[in-house]
Amino acid sequence: MNLARRTMNNPAFALVYERAWRPATFFLATGRTMQADRRDAARTLHLRPDSRVLDVACGPGNITHYLSEQLDGDGFAIGIDFSGPMLRQARADNSGPHVGYVRGDARRLPFPDGSFDAVCCFGALYLIPDPLEAAREMIRVLAPGGRIAISTSQRTDTWFGAVSSAVGNAGGLRVFDIDTFPELFTQAGLVDIEQEIHGLLQYVSASRPQ
Ligand SMILES: C[S@@+](CC[C@H](N)C(=O)[O-])C[C@H]1O[C@@H](n2cnc3c(N)ncnc32)[C@H](O)[C@@H]1O
Repeated sequence: MNLARRTMNNPAFALVYERAWRPATFFLATGRTMQADRRDAARTLHLRPDSRVLDVACGPGNITHYLSEQLDGDGFAIGIDFSGPMLRQARADNSGPHVGYVRGDARRLPFPDGSFDAVCCFGALYLIPDPLEAAREMIRVLAPGGRIAISTSQRTDTWFGAVSSAVGNAGGLRVFDIDTFPELFTQAGLVDIEQEIHGLLQYVSASRPQ
């Protein structure tokens, strides 16, 4: 297990992730706040009150819970993560009437095809050993008419990008070309693909046709 994966399984890290680590490191990497990331997640996923939402690699539920607050009636959000400490923190800090958490591997999602209207994975594909397999799994569980959104690393041709790539690679984080996910989504038949670059991260969303 590499340094990044060991860190995600550390209860002390799970405790400080939402309060300190996530706001600080993502602000440094992108210049954006977690509030902005949450709002954009709900907007780009085209949530309706009755949406069925899957948040892959949800960590302590910091985005999952916000998404669930946009839901009503039969709508629900499920967060899935392989880290026990992260999920314990999610249940402690981010429970609610429309949210639940499941332990599992993003590379083998335990859900039937087309189960969700919105599927997202933020700040995690660069940690997963087979990230494209995880992205294909997300597409598999996306229902016709549903929306997928990811945020992950992107290769930046600046000295800062080079240094952060080197540091990231040493710690077990992968850096992706900006074409990788738009191409994967196109090959999978997804449409309305949108990509934004925020500093060291890319944000890509797309729809499965009806
Ligand atoms: C940096 S946190 C991201 C949390 C949240 N999505 C966010 O945007 O702040 C990355 C999460 O990915 C999870 N993770 C890494 N590999 C995974 C895998 N193969 N399956 C499920 N979760 C995984 C880790 O346990 C960790 O909780």
